Amino acid sequence: MAINRNVLTLDEFTIQELRNFPRATGELSTLLRDIGLAAKRVNVEVNKAGLVDILGDAGAVNVQGEDVKKLDVFANNQFIGVLQHGISCAGIASEELDDFVVFDDEVSNNSKYVVMFDPLDGSSNIDINVSIGTIFSVYRRVSEVGKPCTQEDFLQAGNRQVAAGYIIYGSSTMLVYATRRGVNGFTLDPSIGEFCLSHPDIKCPPSGKIYSLNHGNFYQYAPEVQQYIQACQKKDKNTGGPYTQRYIGSMVADVHRNLIKGGIFMYPATTDSKNGKLRLLYECNPFAFIAEVAGGKATDGTRRVLEITPTTLHQRTPFFIGSKDMMEELEGYLKQS
Ligand code: AHG
Ligand code: MN
Ligand code: MN
Ligand code: MN
Repeated sequence: MAINRNVLTLDEFTIQELRNFPRATGELSTLLRDIGLAAKRVNVEVNKAGLVDILGDAGAVNVQGEDVKKLDVFANNQFIGVLQHGISCAGIASEELDDFVVFDDEVSNNSKYVVMFDPLDGSSNIDINVSIGTIFSVYRRVSEVGKPCTQEDFLQAGNRQVAAGYIIYGSSTMLVYATRRGVNGFTLDPSIGEFCLSHPDIKCPPSGKIYSLNHGNFYQYAPEVQQYIQACQKKDKNTGGPYTQRYIGSMVADVHRNLIKGGIFMYPATTDSKNGKLRLLYECNPFAFIAEVAGGKATDGTRRVLEITPTTLHQRTPFFIGSKDMMEELEGYLKQS
């Protein structure tokens, strides 16, 4: 089989992008390479799950009140490790840690970015061989470069993200990331161990036929959300309904599918959880950024997610994200409230 040398690796692509910015230092490319390296390490472990002692609980409960899985811990350590040893990151915050971590060494203090991540998304799917992921978000520091990073670096609104992305450990492993210039997807070629550009310039179709949410919570949703869900199930020649319901329970996989095929994903407030379940900094902001760059929309039901000013690291928010036309149809229902 002929080898396609037109396919760029992640490193080649980010270096090529640099040519558009003559004053760029290359720090973001380095950061993305570091994230790609951690992703490859996690991928190896995910692929061996079942053979090695990586399934099941780590025996702890995290700051979110969830049972921590062994793979949550492994992935968290891999991402912290590469970012700490790299030259582009001053500190991190993670779903799995109570507080942010300041790397506080000479190289890190001189780095201009901080990174926030959900090291392993879809923890409940680890043990049953269903797609899981990693989500990350990159901000330029607002604190003084040369000094340790501070809390205000982590509590920036999502519209200040420089880049955001995710890795999906699925039937193949993909890394997708967005900058303001566009969204690009790379598939891991296991034969060479490199992420290769497979989905250039991803655009979210303006409409679709898929709606994704946890139907088990139906009676806990607000009446207007229930009405929208019922509308999704109705035959309607204007919308193309009834829509198809798909819910994996790994947000990375659900939102990735909708981004490529068109669709809407929702994790609304419930009577038990007024702010829903998903975390603004590690889950919602990165996906909101990616969706908007790809032409989609993301709200908390009333406002753009990217405009929310965070007050705490682990805050949650109701979350609606997807194709533009479907989001506008939803907004019509939510406005009635
Ligand atoms: P995490 O595994 O990082 O804690 O996130 C799980 C999230 C998200 O991936 C998914 O969409 C959602 O939890 C599923 O929650 P429900 O089981 O309540 O539907
Ligand atoms: Mn979790
Ligand atoms: Mn998650
Ligand atoms: Mn997680």
